[in-house]
This record gives sequence, structure tokens and C-alpha cells, in this order.
Amino acid sequence: MDLFEYQARDVFEKHGVPVLAGAVATTPEQAREAAETIGAKSGGVTVVKAQVKTGGRGKAGGVKVAKSAEEAEQLAGEILGMDIKGHTVHQVMIAQGAQIAEEYYFSVLLDRTNRTYLAMCSVEGGMDIEQLAVERPDALAKVAVDPNVGIDAAKGQEIVDAAGFDAETGAKIVPVLEKLWAVYRDEDATLVEVNPLVKTNDGEIVALDGKVTLDENADFRQPDHLALEDKAAADPLEAAAKEKNLNYVKLDGNVGIIGNGAGLVMSTLDVVAYAGEKVGSKPANFLDIGGGASAEVMANGLGIILGDEQVNAVFVNVFGGITACDEVARGIVGALDTLGDAATKPLVVRLDGNNVEEGRRILADRNHPLVTIEETMDGAAAKAAELAAQSAN
Ligand SMILES: Nc1ncnc2c1ncn2[C@@H]1O[C@H](COP(=O)(O)OP(=O)(O)OP(=O)(O)O)[C@@H](O)[C@H]1O
Ligand SMILES: [Mg+2]
Repeated sequence: MDLFEYQARDVFEKHGVPVLAGAVATTPEQAREAAETIGAKSGGVTVVKAQVKTGGRGKAGGVKVAKSAEEAEQLAGEILGMDIKGHTVHQVMIAQGAQIAEEYYFSVLLDRTNRTYLAMCSVEGGMDIEQLAVERPDALAKVAVDPNVGIDAAKGQEIVDAAGFDAETGAKIVPVLEKLWAVYRDEDATLVEVNPLVKTNDGEIVALDGKVTLDENADFRQPDHLALEDKAAADPLEAAAKEKNLNYVKLDGNVGIIGNGAGLVMSTLDVVAYAGEKVGSKPANFLDIGGGASAEVMANGLGIILGDEQVNAVFVNVFGGITACDEVARGIVGALDTLGDAATKPLVVRLDGNNVEEGRRILADRNHPLVTIEETMDGAAAKAAELAAQSAN
């Protein structure tokens, strides 16, 4: 999960990284109020910054200096609603104005290729860092960081030396890097980037911009991270699925998909896409209900899929392994009974594997009018694609 800049700022502050005052605003009036308080700390000067989860905000006109609270209000009016690379600006951050002497770059991230962490640092930070990285890669120091040690004083020194800082500035930056490492480690981040990290005219080091990506796999031990989620941006079906702990991804088609195991579901998407080509059907989602697909999980999954207005038919594709097919069949029957009248769309079920005869018998006995049993995956995909195309007409 990517954080907005103002959220990153708050997380930095929590870990003692030097930041300037900042407040988020969703209307020009709020921006003026915030600028009145925040600007008081910097001679009335604030910076109005678009809060969107994409880079290049400054170059797109989404970062503007305001010399008064009235100007902040006016600039917020211009920036709110702006489109930056396909992201609409719904919020701005009013940041205290800094007197910048120099702009640097620092980031630490998960280096998958080398199976370690990587710190990157440059004395030439700012808005052209991407260009710098391409044109003069030597000006961007890259230092591997051992996960067991992290960025301590020694590693910090190694990083500032590699980046070519003078001794005095380097000595001021090292403690900031240690704190940024604490953010990375303690928040279970996969990216912490500060561009620019600045030296002010007073010689202070301050993080003026922050990009943080949190590892959602660690959410179970980061209860605070829940509050950082951008609920407004989430797809409502995906949000509902997440609440029920389902691995669901909304796609664009008309055939709802339920399967057990990510690999099986991925190949189900493929066969449905292939079968659907002839009739104009496509998979509507990815949904893996995992190993122990109880009636409840099946009902939750079906509930989400049937809530998708684009879905005209559902393909349930289950390979019984640890969870035997009879249990899955009971799950489907139980789910349909739970859903009652809410279940209105045809269901094509293909069961195979452990205890398949018993599973098919349970479904046949229940003889639910919406359920069609198919023996093969290809046959079921074709049937589901066809039913979805029919009900569309
Ligand atoms: N609080 C501030 N005071 C003074 N100048 C600032 C402040 N915040 C940003 N700036 C200036 O604006 C420039 C762009 O700001 P920032 O880095 O936050 O956005 P950006 O780099 O364009 O966005 P992104 O990093 O998303 O591409 C900075 O390099 C800095 O020169
Ligand atoms: Mg930046």
C-alpha cells in the first residue's frame, strides 16, 4: 500500500525524522485556515501540495508556493480537482515553507533481484532525480543494506560517503538515515523515499517530501496501518471482499469466477477468456477461496460475485485436494441456501479430485435450478461463457 505524502510525513514524525509542519485540506477554505497556522512558523509562506499517489507532482503544477493564507486558498482552489497522470486531486497538503539551500535524494527499498535491501543516495536530489539516474547513474550511490543490521551509524556513514557528501553535511545526515531506517523496519515498509531531503539556509536537514510503501503482508502485526487505507479509492467489491478475508480482484468481464488455489484460478481465467472469445464473454474477477472452502466461505465468495452487476453467470471451478469435493459441494449447496433469493444467476460447477463422485452426487441430489454440473474445465468454461453471453442479450 502506497501512502499519501501527508501520511508519510506523519509516519516520519512519529519516528523522529525531521519534517516541517503540514496539514491536509480538502477545500480551499480549509487550506486557508491551515495556512494561517502553519504559515505563522515561516513568515506566512506555505507550500500547497497536491496529494496524489504518483510522482512528478511538482512538474505537473501540483506544488506551489503561497506567500499568504489568501494565496494558499486560491492555489488550493486551482490544485484541487486537477488531474495528475490520471489521478484526481482530492486533497492538498499545506506545508510550512522551507528555505532550501541544497536538495538531496535518499531511498531505501526492497531489492528483490539481490535478495536484500538497497539504499540509494545522491547529493543532487530534487525533481530531476529520474533523469539523473538514467543519464549519470554514478551520481546516485547504491549501497546494499543487510536486513539483520539495517542502517546504523556505520552504514549511514558508508552511504553518505558513497554519495559524496562533505564531512560536515554527512555527519548531519547520518542520524536522519538511521531514523528513516527505523521507519522502514518498524513500519514493515518496502520503500521509504525522501526527495528532496534538504539542507535549509540554517543548516538543518529536513525531509520535505516522502514516499512510503507498506507491505500489506505485515498488516496482521500493524493494526495502525488499517487507518492509512484510502477507502475512497478502493473498489467497493474489493473492499467488501477484503473485509471477509477473500482474495478477490475485480476484473472487467461478465463471468464470475470462484476457484480454490491461486494457480487453478489463474488458469480458469485463461480458459474462460479463451472460451469467451467466440461469444463475447470475459472473466469478471479473480477469487481464490483457498484450501478449506467451507459453506460460509463459499457463501461469502458467491455473495461478492453476485453483487457485481456485470456478472451474468458464475463458474465454480474446484479441484478437491485436502478439501474433498463433497465438502465443497456441501459448501455450494449451503451457500445457495444461505443466499436464497439473492442467488439469481446461473452457476456452472466443475468438480474434480478427492471424493469427486460424492461431490457430484450431492449437487445432483439438490438439483438446484441455477446449477449446471460439467465434467471438464474446458466444458464448464464454454458453458459459463455461453450462459453469460445469453443473459446479456
Ligand atoms: N515545504 C516546502 N518548502 C519549500 N519548498 C518546497 C517544499 N516542499 C516542496 N518544495 C519544493 O518543491 C519541489 C517539489 O516538491 P516535492 O518533492 O514534494 O514534489 P515532487 O517531487 O514534484 O513530487 P513527486 O516526488 O511526487 O514527484 C521540491 O523539490 C522543493 O524544491
Ligand atoms: Mg519529490
